[in-house]
Amino acid sequence: MQLQLTSPLDMHLHLRQGEMLKNITPLSSKTFSGALIMPNTVPPITTKEMVKNYRDEIVEAAKDGTFTPYMTLFFSNSYNYEFLQSIKDDILAIKLYPAGITTNSEGGVNSFDIETLKETLEAMSQLQIPLCIHGESDGFVMDREAEFIPIYKQLATAFPKLKIVMEHITTAASAKAVLEHDNLYATITLHHLYITLDDVAGGMLQPHLFCKPIAKRPEDRAALIDLALNANPKVMFGSDSAPHPKSAKEAPGCAAGVFTAPIALQALAQLFEQHGKLENLQAFVSDNAQKIYNITPPKKSILLEKKEFIVPDSYGEIVPFLAGKSLQWSIQ
Ligand code: DOR
Ligand code: ZN
Repeated sequence: MQLQLTSPLDMHLHLRQGEMLKNITPLSSKTFSGALIMPNTVPPITTKEMVKNYRDEIVEAAKDGTFTPYMTLFFSNSYNYEFLQSIKDDILAIKLYPAGITTNSEGGVNSFDIETLKETLEAMSQLQIPLCIHGESDGFVMDREAEFIPIYKQLATAFPKLKIVMEHITTAASAKAVLEHDNLYATITLHHLYITLDDVAGGMLQPHLFCKPIAKRPEDRAALIDLALNANPKVMFGSDSAPHPKSAKEAPGCAAGVFTAPIALQALAQLFEQHGKLENLQAFVSDNAQKIYNITPPKKSILLEKKEFIVPDSYGEIVPFLAGKSLQWSIQ
């Protein structure tokens, strides 16, 4: 059995910097025709010059003319209309992090008071720049995403023309909320379709499955599977592939992030096939995102084949999701 995918897109990707960027970018550019690149570098991407330099670095590392890095800016409520207009053509979206909620997010937002965000969000709305949000409160870890839903709703209501993407949703509550506002959309990762908190911490602690937001309950995973495998047009694939060296994962103070980029399409094909939904994979990994973001990525054909693929134990110093496991789909 074979499955042809056209122009797969990863609408939430961390490519890091320096040597790490050089090593991991080809692992995405080989199989994806584009990706939305997260701006939580050190320091975060906040100027036009930084966007351009970062994009150049990625294009150079990709060594593949059929890969488009769609760039993002790290949200600040100091961005005004004039600045956003000047940078609009260089970015696809702006990513908002609550301050300190995850890796390199210290410069994020401290207050979700609409008044303090209004000038920037109004300008984004007028310029049609989508807002991507890491939606977690600073509450109890299992409740953080659910506690953030009222903020999503408030923003969606206050800025009805602003497209808001709920990044890497992990709960049934978010799966419901995304359907309740016309201007809310969501990304779903591979790992949140596969695992629950039990896989992370139910037995021996699994550092390579530790990420933010943390995987939740079986019923939450079921709600995500329902949206993704039916390719609901409000959701799209965003891997949140977030590499950290093994030394930072297998350590006290384990870094958050799951590295899925090189195995994502194979593992998605397996999951969609198991559920008898293989015909929906194209929409989930490309068509939905093209419509939501209004983009036309470079044409790229990827042929998946039903043939065993043993996930490598590591890619350099990074341990991937499902390391050493056997998948039933490989890329030709
Ligand atoms: O697990 C995560 N890792 N979640 C995030 O939001 C950030 C990411 C990273 O950059 O490592
Ligand atoms: Zn992320």
